[in-house]
Amino acid sequence: MERLIDKTLEDYARAHITALPEALAEIEHYTHAHRPDAAMLSGPLEAALLRLLVLLCPARRVLEIGLFTGYSALAMASALPADGELLSCEKDPEAIAIAQRFFDRTPYGRKIRIRAGLALDTLEALRGQVFDLVFLDADKENYPLYYDRALPLLRPGGLFVADNTLWSGRVLAPTTPADLAIAAFNRKVQNDPDMDAVLLTVRDGVTVARKKTAAA
Ligand SMILES: C[S@@+](CC[C@H](N)C(=O)[O-])C[C@H]1O[C@@H](n2cnc3c(N)ncnc32)[C@H](O)[C@@H]1O
Repeated sequence: MERLIDKTLEDYARAHITALPEALAEIEHYTHAHRPDAAMLSGPLEAALLRLLVLLCPARRVLEIGLFTGYSALAMASALPADGELLSCEKDPEAIAIAQRFFDRTPYGRKIRIRAGLALDTLEALRGQVFDLVFLDADKENYPLYYDRALPLLRPGGLFVADNTLWSGRVLAPTTPADLAIAAFNRKVQNDPDMDAVLLTVRDGVTVARKKTAAA
């Protein structure tokens, strides 16, 4: 992932967020030490944003598509009420094992249920369930499909949040299947009459869209 904003400014922003749960720094440290693909981890700035969105929604049930080592899941779970729950989809057994070990060590972790396997299959199995917030952060080629499959699960007034929607700037001249899928996803969200959306220039781009209610 290429940096889209000046590093000094991003470090400044990162230094001015509310303190995050200690376990997040532990997951970040462990992931960087043990996983060559550690750059996939969203990081503190986005964790702070996700926590705030969970609180503002307010969300009790969250669906995450793309758990990795559990960083964003634990960030969101830490903002859920005591009876809240977060379901997270992940296909990588090693990442699941790492995440579960961290979840077992924190009180927030008990709110998280991991759904192992391909996320599209899990979404199919979840049909009929209702979520207050969906966070999409898995394989980019499927972003438009995930949107179509997850949106029916989102309650009116709920939030659909998607990571990497600036895709290191490649949305400006998309060529690969992943580039094209993210660009298509961004158009889909923008043109959806049922959503109010903004593409935030946080980190690699974070889309936040609210499903309209009958009132607005
Ligand atoms: C960018 S990482 C998620 C990062 C995580 N949200 C965080 O902030 O730390 C994407 C994850 O999606 C998983 N993934 C990719 N394709 C998937 C699929 N089809 N079904 C389930 N998980 C998938 C990958 O194994 C990877 O762990």
